[in-house]
Amino acid sequence: MSAPKKPLVIGNWKMNLDFVEAVHLGQQIGVLLKNRPAEHTDVVVAPPFVDLRSVTSIVASERIAVTVAAQHVNPNENGAHTGEISVAMLQRLGVEWVLVGHSERRALYAMDDAIVAATLRAVVRSGLKVVLCVGEALDVREEGDQDEWVRRQLRAALEGLDERFGELVTVAYEPIWAIGTGLTATSAQVYEMMTHVRSVLAGLKLVDARVLYGGSVNAENAASLVAEGHVDGFLVGGASLKAESFLAIIGACDDCYALKR
Ligand code: 13P
Repeated sequence: MSAPKKPLVIGNWKMNLDFVEAVHLGQQIGVLLKNRPAEHTDVVVAPPFVDLRSVTSIVASERIAVTVAAQHVNPNENGAHTGEISVAMLQRLGVEWVLVGHSERRALYAMDDAIVAATLRAVVRSGLKVVLCVGEALDVREEGDQDEWVRRQLRAALEGLDERFGELVTVAYEPIWAIGTGLTATSAQVYEMMTHVRSVLAGLKLVDARVLYGGSVNAENAASLVAEGHVDGFLVGGASLKAESFLAIIGACDDCYALKR
């Protein structure tokens, strides 16, 4: 097994928290991180668009050890795209990461493989880091087709990507059946998929990409998932909305990395 990569924990706040609530949560995370710094773990939060300015400001002014992600972006540079946001706009706000192809965007907002690939390229060409989300629905898993499904999603998004952008890529495996359902994949299922994703990434010459797990990760299951699931970190939804549970997940990654090193 290769040397462990530095863990990464991302809180995806989804469509929760107005800017006042977002600042409050950011400050709480800052206080907890000062009490117990994440020595070995990169921490990222992904607030809604309208909170980004407030969160990047508070992170900078209070020197909170987190960086900020957007949950989505439009691949076009500018123009007649009512309601959309460009990569350059995010960059101006100090956003460093963008989630691309979250299953909720794919399922509810018609984000197909071609749009995912175009968006990913728009993000990395600007020098921002991308978190490519992949994962199968329950019927796909029940048919035993999850490996093929995830391979197809990875290739559709990443095939032909210029190698110099490789260091900007992170992959998050989020089985749709485990998102917001309280149904977590078992450590064995996660381990198997992590191995599979890494082998597909190796075929795409992306061996340095971190591979995260997401889907009902919480303070209780994070330690066993990180110890046994062979993950490089987590993409966390619900449990990232409370500073205590988010910090517990970060702590689990930090402890595990310190032990493995
Ligand atoms: P939950 O942690 O709420 O299941 O959400 C996972 C997710 O979709 C993160 O992007």
